Amino acid sequence: MEQREDKLKEVISHAKEYGFVFPSSEIYDGLAATYDYGQLGSELKNNIKTYWWKAMVQMHENIVGIDASIFMHPTTWKASGHVDAFNDPLIDNKDSKKRYRADVLLEEHIEKIRQKIEKEVEKGLKRFGDAFDADQFRATNPNVLRNAEKITYIEDKMRVTLENNDLEGLKNLIEELEIVCPISGSKNWTDVRQFNLMFSTEMGSVAGDASTIYLRPETAQGIFVNFLNVQKSGRMKIPFGIAQIGKAFRNEIIARQFIFRMREFEQMEMQFFVRPGEEMKWYEYWKNTRIQWHKALGLGEQHYRFHDHIKLAHYANAAADIEFNFPMGFKELEGIHSRTDFDLKQHEQFSGKKLQYFDPELNQNYVPYVIETSVGLDRMFLAVLSASHKNEVLEDGSERVVLNLPPALAPYKVAVMPLTKKDGLPEKAREIIDGLKFDFLCTYDEKDSIGKRYRRQDAIGTPFSVTVDHQTLEDNTVTIRDRDTMQQERIAIADLHRLIDQKVNLRTLLTVNTMSEVNN
Ligand code: GAP
Repeated sequence: MEQREDKLKEVISHAKEYGFVFPSSEIYDGLAATYDYGQLGSELKNNIKTYWWKAMVQMHENIVGIDASIFMHPTTWKASGHVDAFNDPLIDNKDSKKRYRADVLLEEHIEKIRQKIEKEVEKGLKRFGDAFDADQFRATNPNVLRNAEKITYIEDKMRVTLENNDLEGLKNLIEELEIVCPISGSKNWTDVRQFNLMFSTEMGSVAGDASTIYLRPETAQGIFVNFLNVQKSGRMKIPFGIAQIGKAFRNEIIARQFIFRMREFEQMEMQFFVRPGEEMKWYEYWKNTRIQWHKALGLGEQHYRFHDHIKLAHYANAAADIEFNFPMGFKELEGIHSRTDFDLKQHEQFSGKKLQYFDPELNQNYVPYVIETSVGLDRMFLAVLSASHKNEVLEDGSERVVLNLPPALAPYKVAVMPLTKKDGLPEKAREIIDGLKFDFLCTYDEKDSIGKRYRRQDAIGTPFSVTVDHQTLEDNTVTIRDRDTMQQERIAIADLHRLIDQKVNLRTLLTVNTMSEVNN
């Protein structure tokens, strides 16, 4: 646990030191759960967006992209259910004045019991060594069994209270389990209240209910309200998808863990419209396609797993998360939801406009069913950054910090460095950059020893460093160093473009995606 916290701290400080992510308005001591992407962070973020957009829109004939407004007609959020039901159950500790999500307090309590079980198993392993059968131990050890029973009891009670919106029941459970405030250590709790997560503001100059609008809490509704516009103007035939990347806002109470849970964040969402009755086929298809998209990045297949939802939202008939092994453990990275015809039907009802499709093959009108894929861009960023960040001990005993970023996502693709600042070497280096910069983001570095310059590029994940020396002036060759292997090779300047392109071109990643979709 402590190791994991240390890892997250290391990633946060690395992100700040090298210009990836800064706390927002830091000179005023920052604003909770809000971050700014720096000069390298915005490059990495843009590259992730491009990878998603190309894989979803450019590689699929039947998916198109839009860019809807953040502000939407307020009735949108009545229809979608967000005004009435996009709530968190909150409880305050009267002594520390700290506010918590009641369900999170209970989940953390469950996690503590889980850790007790794991400690018991570890003790068993120490005692019995190789002969230890962990499964049998879990099934028979009285302490483990007692704790497992406790977990089932709490989970069952929690599910029932949440399903029935039984706020008193939630408070009773917290009191029954004698959960204390982590700050004050007291059990002096207020009642549980529902708290809506949408930010609201006023449009125009007149205050009052009629002009209250919301900052969108998901981008998806911008797609639903444009369903017919896109279908008709693009002459789209079902099945087809509409994709969008954009900001979303949620007044998260427990916003923490760096950019994992923020109040202002970005989503990459796609709604795929299908014939009613065919939604489960497409749900499986998109589950598979999306996990392959993640795995193609090469961050390690063991870092991903599915979590199928047992308790479904009222609009869904199936839902799963793709979880990633973040420094804090496995957590949701992307959601894949079979949303039925709920959203379009709601918008039909609230707007009084038909949102139907005429299917020429069936000779029939219907409201399409929807499969949604929704991934948080900031969570993708954290996944890529944390899995790429490594402290390596080299053969000679020295250490380096390296970001093994997937080359197609790296901010700079190549650093060009003159060995010295004189003899025409800087001019030659800039000439090389001029030849590469149309296709690759390049950086120039002439300060410090070459060794130090390599380390700087390793730390920001630049896949290639090119050194220009006196021989370059004679025969137009340079040394190219690979970030991951640290191998150096002498090659002709004329070959640089091809060699860099082979490794950093998005085509490599997209090809992996296309191949896995064929097998899907
Ligand atoms: N349209 C469906 C939807 O919004 P969600 O599970 O609430 O579903 C989808 O959100 C994704 O958005 C999540 O899997 C996560 O990656 C990202 N996300 C949600 N809340 C977030 C937050 N507060 N900060 C950062 N990312 C968030």
